[in-house]
Amino acid sequence: MTHTAELAWHDGQPYSTRFDDVYFSKASGLEETRHVFLKHNQLAERFAALPEHGQFTIAETGFGTGLNVLCAWQCFEEHAPPSARLHVVSTEKFPLSRDDLQRALALWPELQTYSEELATQYGVMTPGWHRMVLAGGRVIVTLVIGDVLDIVADLDVEVDAWFLDGFAPSRNPEMWQPALFEAMARLGHAGTTFATFTSAGAVRRGLQAAGFTVEKVAGHGHKREMCRGVLQTAIEPHWRAPWFQRPAPHPDRTAIVIGGGMAGAASAYSLAIRGWQVTLIDRHDSLAAEASGNPQGVLYAKLSAHFTPLTRLVLSGYAYTLRTLHSLLGKDTEAWQACGVLQAGFDAAEQKRQAELTEAGLPTGFVHGVDAQQAAALAGIPLEHPGLFFPEAGWVHPPALVAALTRHPRITVRTGEAVIELARHPEAALWVASGANGPLAVGSAVILAGAADTAGFDMTCHLPLKRIRGQITEACATPASQRLATVLCGEGYISPARHNRHCLGATFTFDDDSCEVRAEEHQHNLAMLEELSPALFEALSGDTAGPEVIGGRAAHRCTSPDYLPMIGPVVSREDFVDGYRALANDATLRLASPAPWQPGLYVNTAHGSRGLITAPLSGEILASYLCGEAAPLPRSLMDAVHPNRFLLRDLIRGKLHR
Ligand SMILES: Cc1cc2nc3c(=O)[nH]c(=O)nc-3n(C[C@H](O)[C@H](O)[C@H](O)COP(=O)(O)OP(=O)(O)OC[C@H]3O[C@@H](n4cnc5c(N)ncnc54)[C@H](O)[C@@H]3O)c2cc1C
Ligand SMILES: C[S@@+](CC[C@H](N)C(=O)[O-])C[C@H]1O[C@@H](n2cnc3c(N)ncnc32)[C@H](O)[C@@H]1O
Repeated sequence: MTHTAELAWHDGQPYSTRFDDVYFSKASGLEETRHVFLKHNQLAERFAALPEHGQFTIAETGFGTGLNVLCAWQCFEEHAPPSARLHVVSTEKFPLSRDDLQRALALWPELQTYSEELATQYGVMTPGWHRMVLAGGRVIVTLVIGDVLDIVADLDVEVDAWFLDGFAPSRNPEMWQPALFEAMARLGHAGTTFATFTSAGAVRRGLQAAGFTVEKVAGHGHKREMCRGVLQTAIEPHWRAPWFQRPAPHPDRTAIVIGGGMAGAASAYSLAIRGWQVTLIDRHDSLAAEASGNPQGVLYAKLSAHFTPLTRLVLSGYAYTLRTLHSLLGKDTEAWQACGVLQAGFDAAEQKRQAELTEAGLPTGFVHGVDAQQAAALAGIPLEHPGLFFPEAGWVHPPALVAALTRHPRITVRTGEAVIELARHPEAALWVASGANGPLAVGSAVILAGAADTAGFDMTCHLPLKRIRGQITEACATPASQRLATVLCGEGYISPARHNRHCLGATFTFDDDSCEVRAEEHQHNLAMLEELSPALFEALSGDTAGPEVIGGRAAHRCTSPDYLPMIGPVVSREDFVDGYRALANDATLRLASPAPWQPGLYVNTAHGSRGLITAPLSGEILASYLCGEAAPLPRSLMDAVHPNRFLLRDLIRGKLHR
């Protein structure tokens, strides 16, 4: 549930009516931020001391207007080596609207370039994790919408400096709790610093009890005192399942990505913007030639009001895909259109699901319910059912997204080459990917993004991947069908015309490896359309008996048994079974031995029927493993998409033997 900030503007400055407190000092918020959070965390000096390719991580309580983050970003640009990167993980329980954020940040003209870039990434803030890639990947902000006390419990990041912000402890006592101070210490290391504007006794005592030294120093402006401090020694970490821990990062920064669909392209992109050299290999003569090759795909967020792991993943992925589309495809209307997506409430069960969702407290700018009349007005055609409308969503030409993601000077694309062998040379710590005519590429890491063929190598054959065939139909647009203004989804979907064709989808066929296009599957797609909107079916038919089919395409979705994607490092199956065999007798054992990772081997697959939602973010997930940096998702979701979950499940059920 998201509650937006309740603001009043006092002398042009934002003021919280909920907390009865200011967002920043009246005199000069900018100077106060620099004094309290930058100077007393010694950021300029610490940024300047970073090695080439070094990283620095700040965590913040209370993102507010983003002023602290922008000041840290500016300081980083001024002092850090060009190859170094900054991460900020910030939390916010009551996000500002984009308009309010822009109005507040307009107070600081010297930050204008930073504020503008932040505002383009700051969309409708749904609950959960929002990844923003700024400054070409040099600065990464992960803004988590929720209560900081809940967020830190599911956070897995090593913090170098804390910005302990939030309204005054007297006005916001729920936030300034021992659990927060303990989490700050748990996520720190010896030498992690904090700075805060308050010198309240309870805060000082809480931080001291958690292991920080606490020093009172002069505050900014009329504030007499503030606090700063350092964590003296790292806290003994809680037990964490070794099979979900991270393998060591890869200092060498060269990778081979196998598979040139959306998952492979996103993996290559997220690594390239972090300074990696990537070779991307696909067996077809062009990229996006299999599942990612449809003319139009839909940004289709099917959500549950119960905020299941899948729903939380979809919320984060949807927002990240939109940011990626805006920043890489911009206003290219042949590549994508944010025309809105209307999900029709086509039967009682769907209407119930939709009603629950409209009660779930999601921002209306993200999704809202519409009656049949409103639905028809939005879609531009007569409709009989009420529905859910996602105003920011739309359709995408996936090959255009793949092309934009791979257009980077550090990505070398090799098409027309199937990788048939993968071998690791331990002495050089390098993988070699070979095709029919010999070696194709070397790299310290390999990412297998070949959809179901990801399991086609010896070291990944244990991954439970399956294919589901699907066919789309292209129907010739008519003047009447051109009025369709949004994507319309029910059991099937239809997009507004692109190049005078509508794309209708899609069939689901199991145990069928064929990619031939079939007349009966076209009929199935047309029947779904007729059911969804008889008026549109008629509009497309014109004077003929039915819509004119002028094209079609069949490909395979790749799914996992729980329909979540599989993104992360891979273990040796045999060593996993040997090392963790005891779990078969007692699944609660807290085993400590490190997981038997296959060094540098990762997979990114099983995006099912929602690759447009999950694939762009999957690149960020992988990059966080490979670079040893803050993840774009909470620990629970990183575990939920981890490839090891199936080995673990089967071991516990006694299904795995050597
Ligand atoms: C009919 C249909 C309709 C869909 N509609 C939507 C939609 O509306 N919205 C949505 O979000 N999603 C939709 N999807 C799902 C979406 O297309 C997929 O989730 C997404 O494309 C998966 O991307 P990928 O990169 O994992 O796989 P793919 O795009 O299949 O890419 C895998 C690539 O790996 C290559 N490869 C495999 N093995 C090797 C090897 N050994 N050597 C070299 N190359 C190799 C293949 O050539 C291929 O190009 C649809 C899928 C289908 C089939
Ligand atoms: C003083 S403002 C922060 C100013 C901000 N750092 C900036 O640069 O604009 C405090 C922020 O903390 C947020 N906040 C308050 N309680 C919180 C909580 N429990 N969890 C997360 N954020 C919280 C408020 O909504 C508000 O945006």
